[in-house]
Amino acid sequence: MASKLRDPREFPTDFVWGAATSSYQIEGAWRKGGKGLSIWDAFAHTPGKIATGETGDVACDHYHRLHDDVAMMADMGLRAYRFSFSWPRIQPAGSGAVSADGIRFYSELIDALLAHGITPWVTLYHWDLPLALQVEHDGWLNPDIANRFANYADICFEHFGDRVKHWVTLNEPWVSAIMGYGLGVHAPGRVSTVEPYIAAHNLLRAHGRAVDCYRDRYQAKQGGVIGMTNNCDWREPLTDSIEDRAAATTALEFFLGWFADPLHRGEYPEVMRRNLGDRLPQFAADDRYLIEGSTDFFGLNHYATLYASRPEPNDALDSDVFGNGGIAEDQDVKLTADEDWDRTAMGWAVVPWGCRKLLGWIQERYDPESIYIMENGAAFDDDDPKPGADGVIEDPRRVAYLEEYLGACHQAIGDGVNLKGYFCWSLMDNFEWSHGTAMRFGLHRVEPQSLQRIPRRSARWYADVIGSNGLPASPSLQHAVADK
Ligand code: GAL
Repeated sequence: MASKLRDPREFPTDFVWGAATSSYQIEGAWRKGGKGLSIWDAFAHTPGKIATGETGDVACDHYHRLHDDVAMMADMGLRAYRFSFSWPRIQPAGSGAVSADGIRFYSELIDALLAHGITPWVTLYHWDLPLALQVEHDGWLNPDIANRFANYADICFEHFGDRVKHWVTLNEPWVSAIMGYGLGVHAPGRVSTVEPYIAAHNLLRAHGRAVDCYRDRYQAKQGGVIGMTNNCDWREPLTDSIEDRAAATTALEFFLGWFADPLHRGEYPEVMRRNLGDRLPQFAADDRYLIEGSTDFFGLNHYATLYASRPEPNDALDSDVFGNGGIAEDQDVKLTADEDWDRTAMGWAVVPWGCRKLLGWIQERYDPESIYIMENGAAFDDDDPKPGADGVIEDPRRVAYLEEYLGACHQAIGDGVNLKGYFCWSLMDNFEWSHGTAMRFGLHRVEPQSLQRIPRRSARWYADVIGSNGLPASPSLQHAVADK
């Protein structure tokens, strides 16, 4: 792979700089304008599911503050904004009638973005499934959902495709499957060792049909692109042994390969087929046909890194080492962290070189023409939530995290990786799923009661990066993690 950069800290001229959010996490207005309930409304209202006892009923109240929020983005010089549509806000029961208010709301948001020169990147599904589809049809376990999703996607392309040119079908189907149907810590709260693979299969099938609809009926006249975004942490072999290197590859195949292999190679990774046997569904010929080659870009959400090694006979397989372990028994890989690694408030290890290596692995294995980091960022508590004289809250650890990870992205581009854009998670603090608002990922702080948005230093720092299309010439801060 040949280097594409001359200036050591500058990014390519057409690099996309963005920030991201999702509907359930910021909108609130959970019963406004005829919106149907989602599985997250039901889950958050179930006692004991959210650590803080909160719900997303109000969240950041973005539904009522969209114009201020767009002005805040413009203030940062944001070029692109990734957000999601709430399926039950657009189609309250998940099939049939379309809500006029849902269409109005997202139209207004899209128009406001475009008026400020901000490109909308829309995710069709960021986990808030219409509740009716869950209780009446078993959610993602029912094969029929693929057609329902394609119908919903069709509605979105029809109403918004004149202005939206960047579509993401699904956000992190790994999380939907593992957290929602395996560990039960996300909606719909199912606990199973079989269902994650069925749900994932139907998520892939739904994606295939939605993309087929777009390509068949809209893409030529609307001229947009469509893809999926998958999450993956890096898995570094604990030692250089053949076994540990194989363990790391297996872990990556169970994580990213689960979804990216069908999209790019038309089949699940061999190790998954071997380890899972009957529990892994097989692709019918028509599904495979629609799924293989069904992405115009490679969307990646990346946060952290763990070591992978072959488990010893008496090792307990910890399925939740600092989050994101997955169903460890199935992959038969031991995951560990280096005690010296910094960790975010989520407990996720801060390892920027893992980001560079993962990007290289993706380029090598799938050879995509364009990769976009659709989410990267960090949760940290505010040491002092009071803004200084300049109205900004200091968040040095988040600035360091972003600077290091963007540095790793820059290096990856230098390595020859086709990285074309980066979206910071998140524009503002929001409802962090089962953690409620206890985890703060925002470039902007959101005050608990007033919901006022206050910029953190990271927002200013990121605005400078965008403005100069590059990282500051010398690192702003001392970083804790050495290069590897
Ligand atoms: C991702 C997810 C986002 C956000 C982020 C931080 O998995 O897509 O919604 O929650 O993690 O945890």
